[in-house]
Amino acid sequence: MDHFTLIDGELHVENVPLARIAAEVGTPVYVYSTATFQRHARVFRDGLAGLKRKHVAFAVKANPNLAVLRLLANEGFGADVVSGGELARALAAGIPASDVVFSGVGKTRAELEQGLQVGIGQFNLELEEEGVVLSALAAARGQRAPATLRVNPDVDAGTHEKISTGKAENKFGLPIHEAKAIFDRLAPLPGLNLRGVAVHIGSQLQSLEPLERAFERVGELVRELRGAGHTVSHVDLGGGLGVPYRASDNPPSPADFGAMVERVTRDWDVELMFEPGRVISANAGVLLTEVLWVKPGGINPWVIVDSAMNDLARVALYDAYHDFEAVRPSGAKFVANVAGPVCESSDVFAKGREIDLVRSGDLAILRSAGAYGATMASTYNSRPLVPEVLVHGDRYEVVAGRISAETIMAEEHVPAWLQ
Ligand code: LLP
Repeated sequence: MDHFTLIDGELHVENVPLARIAAEVGTPVYVYSTATFQRHARVFRDGLAGLKRKHVAFAVKANPNLAVLRLLANEGFGADVVSGGELARALAAGIPASDVVFSGVGKTRAELEQGLQVGIGQFNLELEEEGVVLSALAAARGQRAPATLRVNPDVDAGTHEKISTGKAENKFGLPIHEAKAIFDRLAPLPGLNLRGVAVHIGSQLQSLEPLERAFERVGELVRELRGAGHTVSHVDLGGGLGVPYRASDNPPSPADFGAMVERVTRDWDVELMFEPGRVISANAGVLLTEVLWVKPGGINPWVIVDSAMNDLARVALYDAYHDFEAVRPSGAKFVANVAGPVCESSDVFAKGREIDLVRSGDLAILRSAGAYGATMASTYNSRPLVPEVLVHGDRYEVVAGRISAETIMAEEHVPAWLQ
């Protein structure tokens, strides 16, 4: 459920007409709904209600906007970060450092230091050497860094190849069969409090089955580690729950997920950690755009909109599906392609799809754009960086301004030898 609905024939976000935002802020623009974020956060939490000890860290990469992070902090979420920049955002949004988990396959020494300095809650280690370095940095500061080993369980998540992370061929985690030996060597290091295991096998999962298999393997590892005398107090189960991008999608609900986790982890006796991103944010945002032209095409007409692959990269990158809807639908439909102005054949949002009949000047939305949308935007083709708006009831605020091509150009210069 969301709060992007037709009121008197016109799409609103909560009580704000999208046409008003388009008139006042311009397009393209991402528009988020506070109530939808809150609802998703609560549904996720309720799904885990049966678990005694847990920590939920929003995967900042899905939507790092400061207002969004604050909103989720108010809902009791911590943050899962993968860079010093994301860590700085989480802290700036008011998330306590102790509620931050630092994931990521290539943390720099400076980023490890930054995490130690602010006292983050947990580092998820990706390789033995990272643990050795973190221990040395922490010991030099008189600290013991809370850490887990991220394992790769070699499970096929059954999702798009480019968002799979838990197969042996992927760069993430360390092979699960090596985890015990690495744990043995890292656990005694003076700067580490090696306290558990982490796993994340991929994103936009449509079935619980691969997650369950991965968690079973982690459970076996936990038993093996304890059998060897290690203390295992924390297990981070990552993110990955899929969301419906189209009406026919039927991903598992947070309640189904929670029930599965409860069953699989019943005798683990650990604090369980979660890193949801998409399931909290995807359907809390849309990309609002204006139709520039309807251009006759060789096969179908081309609806050329003012948003492009630089604003929303998911379609070009993963052949993702985003619903396209008119802000003031007449009820008439036509079969068309939807594309942006960028000079690439992959800058296409929909091909040969039956959509609302639109004309130049009409407003439209691409749905489910609240996760991996604005955060993956670029200024390719020297287009401005797309702004973001957060709606709350009958008001809204621009929570990230449009960064113009001129502002970006101001950071460049022509060297003297060319002048
Ligand atoms: N934890 C870790 C360690 C991750 O790598 C990710 C996502 C998450 C949590 C959050 O996963 P989620 O709950 O959102 O599925 N740009 C792609 C998705 C990349 C996901 C990367 N890792 C897309 O637009 O589909």
